[in-house]
This record gives sequence, structure tokens and C-alpha cells, in this order.
Amino acid sequence: MGFISSHVSSHSPKTFYPVPYKMYINAETSLLVIQYNILIGIALSNGYLWKKQRKFANTHLRYFGEGQKSLEKYIEVECSFLCEAFKEEQGRPFNPHYIMTNAIGNIIFSVVFGHRFEYSDPSFRRILELDNDAVVLAGSAQTQLYDAFPGLMKYLPGPHQTVHANYREIVAFLNREIEKHQEEWNPDDPRDFTDAYLSEMEKDPRAGFNIETLLVCTLDLIEAGTESASTTLRWALVFMMNYPEIQEKVQAEIDRVVGQSRLPTLADRPNLPYTDAVIHETQRFGNIVPLGFPKMANKDSTLGGYFIPKGTAVTTILSSVLFDKNEWETPDVFNPEHFLDSEGKFRRRDAFFKFKMSLIPLNVKLFSVTNTSQRVFGS
Ligand code: HEM
Repeated sequence: MGFISSHVSSHSPKTFYPVPYKMYINAETSLLVIQYNILIGIALSNGYLWKKQRKFANTHLRYFGEGQKSLEKYIEVECSFLCEAFKEEQGRPFNPHYIMTNAIGNIIFSVVFGHRFEYSDPSFRRILELDNDAVVLAGSAQTQLYDAFPGLMKYLPGPHQTVHANYREIVAFLNREIEKHQEEWNPDDPRDFTDAYLSEMEKDPRAGFNIETLLVCTLDLIEAGTESASTTLRWALVFMMNYPEIQEKVQAEIDRVVGQSRLPTLADRPNLPYTDAVIHETQRFGNIVPLGFPKMANKDSTLGGYFIPKGTAVTTILSSVLFDKNEWETPDVFNPEHFLDSEGKFRRRDAFFKFKMSLIPLNVKLFSVTNTSQRVFGS
């Protein structure tokens, strides 16, 4: 399996030469770092602060993961709204992009801020569009140039300025939610992630629990959660359109196990192996985060025979694993059988570690396998 970039995957120990960390950070990331001068929150932070913030997020996303405020409940509620919105189209062709993004955004927003938005609400729709545009523009040539030469590029017009402007508006939107929470806050009755975070503030100054970090954490959760999951869902629709025979098998299994009178729940999952396999294959083949987040060794380390000096930035290339021909029977084909055994039961695959690298509250294993990263080298 390729943990690190393939152009260094030859023999015996080699050295990764340290370069300034910022040179390896992608455009979107460094725009944020430069604009807000932040290395706080979850996705962009380091060391002790990162560990504490990430642990808190994991614990509290799971805490609000039970009962009426559970993630599953929020998903269930949102599924009903989403199905209704699709029904309203009465079988006519329509673009589901922002209805789906809005639905996913609502789930994350409910956990983080305790409420959702109607699909017709222009304020949330605007935030989702700004975020989507910022992610797309972050890949533009000018933004990459800005990344390398911020001192010069900051005076020139171009998409990098739009990315800045978009994030300014998104951050202002999140800030208003946080201010409202501060006004209404009752420590005895935490309603959501933000209320729980407010209770944590000032307990451990080194861990950085303050309003500024909260703002960046909410941005991390909403941005990382919404874009990733809604893009995956859009790929799922594409695959179901392209492979109608697979779609029919999924529908038949759902009809048999769940029926038409209720929504599926997590408890149904073991009885839906084919559907589970199709979801996993969608994630593998969709490959929506081909490069993981960059990490930096915080002490001299050795990985796979390579010496990695302290301070070296390393990026995991997830595609190299998800399409590894030594791991998958038909790596370049959308094939749910990758996740099924000879009896049609769901089987886990070691080479599927997309989720173990990320922060999905439903997957309790996630923190144990981030060991290809900066944090791991030093922890
Ligand atoms: C299909 C859905 C998703 C995919 C494919 C995905 C993928 C990823 C990947 C590949 C990373 C980089 C991991 C690394 O390099 O260490 C990541 C990080 C992250 N994800 Fe996700 N993710 C998804 C959903 C979510 C959701 C729903 C949330 C929040 C509720 C979320 C929050 C985060 C955060 C905060 C990080 C940064 C973690 C850190 O740096 O410690 N993701 N995700």
C-alpha cells in the first residue's frame, strides 16, 4: 500500500528533506492561515491544541450522538425533508446539487448549532454556494500562485481575492451563531456542540478553548462535513444512474429488509450487506479526497524504510491505496463485490481507510488509524 507519494517509493532508506511547511499546504488551507493567521481549530492545528480540540470534537459529536439529539435522529429528520423535496419535483428533471448540500449542511449544523434551515432559506444557501465556490477556486492557477507568492499576489485581482471574500462572509455568518449561543447559554442545559464548547473554555489555556478557536472548529466541521458528504452523495447518484442493474439490486434489498413504510435505521445495516457494499464502493471509487491533509513530522521518524526528519511535510495519497491493484480485484471498475464475500456477506477491506483518516463520529475507530500523519510521528 502506498502511504506516501509514489515518486519516492523506490528502495532502501531515503531522506525527505524538510521544506517550509507552508509550501506544502494547499491553497485553501494557506489562504485561511494567511488571512486569519490561524493554526487553530481541528484541521489546521498542531500538537497539544490539535489533540485536545480533536478529542473534544470526537467526544461531543458522539455525546450528541444519542437520543433525540443524536446524529442518527438528525439524519432521519433530514432524510424526510429531502425525500419530500425530491417528490415535489414530480419526476421532472432537476439539479439536486444544492438540495443535497443543504440537507447534509443541516445535519452538521444541527449537531454544531442545534438547528436547521429550510431549503428555500436564501441565507444558508448563500453560505453553501460561497463555500462550494471557495473550494473550487482554491484549485485555480492564481490561487496556487498566491499560495507560493502571497506577498506579491495579494495586490493583484483574481480568484484568490474571491476566496478571501467568501471566507470572510462565511466566518461572519458562523460568528453570528456563536454570539447568539453566548447570549442564550445555560451551562446546565447544553443544547449542542457549541454550548458544550462554551463550558470548556478557560479550563486549560494551552488547549486553546476560546471563541476564536471555536469559530475555526465550527468552520472545520461544517466545511469538512458538508462538502465531503454531499459530494459523495452526488457520486452515489451518478453511479446508480450509470449502473441501473446495481441500483435495482440495492432497491430490492431495501424493499425486502426495510419495506416502503419506514426509513432505514443504523440497526438495519447488518441486514443490508449489498447496500453497505455499494456505499463503500461509492466512497472508494468516488475518491473525493485523493490527497489527505498535509502533516508534518514533529520528531525524526522512519516510515516504510524512509527516514523523515523532524519538520518534513508529508501528504498521504489516498488514491494510491484506493486504486492499488495489489489490494483490489478490479480497482478501476465500480464493483460492489469488492466489499462482499463469497456468501454475499459484507467484508471489511484493510485498503479502505478513507474514513479511518477522517473525523466521522459514527466510526469509533477513526482516531486509531491516523498514524500516517504528523500527529502520529510525534505522539
Ligand atoms: C464522505 C464523507 C467524508 C470523507 C470522504 C472525509 C474525508 C476526510 C479525509 C480524507 C480527511 C483527512 C484525514 C487526514 O489526512 O488525516 C478528513 C479530515 C477531516 N474531516 Fe472528513 N470526511 C468526510 C466527512 C466528514 C464529516 C461528516 C465531518 C464532520 C462532521 C468531517 C470532519 C473532518 C475534520 C474536522 C477533519 C480534520 C481532522 C484532523 O485534521 O484532525 N469529515 N476527512
